[in-house]
Amino acid sequence: VERVTDMELSGLNIKFYLNDKYVEVTVTPETTALNLIREQLLHTGAKEVCAEGDCGACTIALGQWRNKQFSYQAINSCLLPAARLHGSHVITVEGLAAGDKLHVIQQQMLEHHAVQCGYCTAGMVMALFCLLTNNPTPNLEDIYAALEGNLCRCTGYVAIRKAAMALSSLLQNSISVTSQLNFLPAFAEHIKNDIQNIPPIVYVSLQKTAADICEAYYLPTTIAELFACMNQHKTKFKIMNGGTDLMVPANLQGIFPECFIDISSIDALNHISKTNGEIIIGAGVKLNEILHNELIQQDLPILAQAISLMASNQIRNIATLAGNIVNASPIADTACVLLALDASVTLLSKAGERQVKLADFYHDYKVIELKKDTEIISKVAIIPESGMCSFEKTSKRSALDIATVNSAIFMQKANNDIVTKCRIAFGGVAKTPVLAKNSASYLIGNKITPEVIAKVAKLAAEEFQPIADVRGSAEYRKILIHNHILKHLKKAITNG
Ligand SMILES: Cc1cc2nc3c(=O)[nH]c(=O)nc-3n(C[C@H](O)[C@H](O)[C@H](O)COP(=O)(O)OP(=O)(O)OC[C@H]3O[C@@H](n4cnc5c(N)ncnc54)[C@H](O)[C@@H]3O)c2cc1C
Ligand code: FES
Ligand code: FES
Repeated sequence: VERVTDMELSGLNIKFYLNDKYVEVTVTPETTALNLIREQLLHTGAKEVCAEGDCGACTIALGQWRNKQFSYQAINSCLLPAARLHGSHVITVEGLAAGDKLHVIQQQMLEHHAVQCGYCTAGMVMALFCLLTNNPTPNLEDIYAALEGNLCRCTGYVAIRKAAMALSSLLQNSISVTSQLNFLPAFAEHIKNDIQNIPPIVYVSLQKTAADICEAYYLPTTIAELFACMNQHKTKFKIMNGGTDLMVPANLQGIFPECFIDISSIDALNHISKTNGEIIIGAGVKLNEILHNELIQQDLPILAQAISLMASNQIRNIATLAGNIVNASPIADTACVLLALDASVTLLSKAGERQVKLADFYHDYKVIELKKDTEIISKVAIIPESGMCSFEKTSKRSALDIATVNSAIFMQKANNDIVTKCRIAFGGVAKTPVLAKNSASYLIGNKITPEVIAKVAKLAAEEFQPIADVRGSAEYRKILIHNHILKHLKKAITNG
């Protein structure tokens, strides 16, 4: 392990591959991958538009080894600290064509006139490229899902859709052509192996100048190193996990801590397992890894469903469950589901660990049980129970939008159809994700009749005093609470 400790450095020395080139470059903790690639390395294919994960114009393919598997994932480079590129292989749109021969995705975009101003195009091409490297014969639905994080401001969607359809049918129907398409550039194979020889950086402490905002960026690889970093910086650090929440105020308002402690390289936090009937999700597991995990799909499909409705593919490739919980947004989608599933979080400090029910984790707006200076969430635990689960999210758009109101319900019934156990959770109706205790208690001991449904919906709407904001008025939110209950309980009748 290469350790650069307390040295007087003017920046972080990172090593990675950009397309076919090995790069060794110095970056500051504030530099984003996009800024590095565009401004220092002069690859301007990826564009900066929103700088907050909302448009996908900055999409690049990030090639990394995780759990002994190598893959390219589409990510928003505007939300990724440049330090995180260390030890990876980045492919940008400049790396796709082989000489004068366009990549098949570029060719289809061109042939179907799916390029108007072209600003969004590089991001779309890279999102599709990553899809193909993971799934060479995608259907149309897969293609649309891969593009859900990419906006085209001049609304070339009809042409983009045609290009996507042509690409899909080309790949689905022509095996011989498909095998010749060779989605990966020729240089990819050896770089995939070469990056394994790049040793991790752990401690990087910089000499702060008056102009610097952050003085350190740490990438610990073990829990012991993590606590050593936390101890060194006491109250002045921020834990960075995926960074999809932290990087937005950093980019848009210049809000940085004195030091980032990035936990994304700690293997011990990167696991999903089932032990004694309990599902454990490590704090470093990415949302997409949870979404595609067989155990989760089989035992906790409701969690997978909620995650599938979160953000975009690019965000889910780096964001985590722990980050969604600690960020403590009142509309956090996974927090809502996890409350209904009666999940617990493990809070780990140097002194040991304690387990806390998520129901006891949220105290007030952004006030949580976690002692931020000494503890991290190390894992989330859920005991899957037999019963009915349902999740609802109302937002203005079906993809890449946060909820106006979200809700989840878990319910068990006896043979006589009487409800014996019930938890109902809401987001967007209070200062934190919250359990609707009165409505759930009323349901327990009752059969789900039209009268009971009406009563529970009324009780739930009375239980909260939501605020009005850009996503909806207080009255609208009350109507949503009422209607979400109707939807959940109708599902309970239909699905038995
Ligand atoms: C464009 C966009 C769309 C989004 N859409 C949605 C959406 O639809 N639904 C939704 O719920 N959210 C959404 N989000 C919010 C965000 O993506 C999620 O909250 C995500 O799960 C955060 O995870 P992260 O790992 O990126 O968190 P980070 O940004 O790394 O961290 C968030 C906070 O948690 C702390 N933290 C993270 N991990 C730990 C840990 N293990 N222990 C202690 N503290 C920790 C950090 O210090 C920070 O305060 C969206 C964000 C963007 C930018
Ligand atoms: S610039 Fe819009 S998502 Fe990155
Ligand atoms: S082609 Fe113009 S923004 Fe997409």
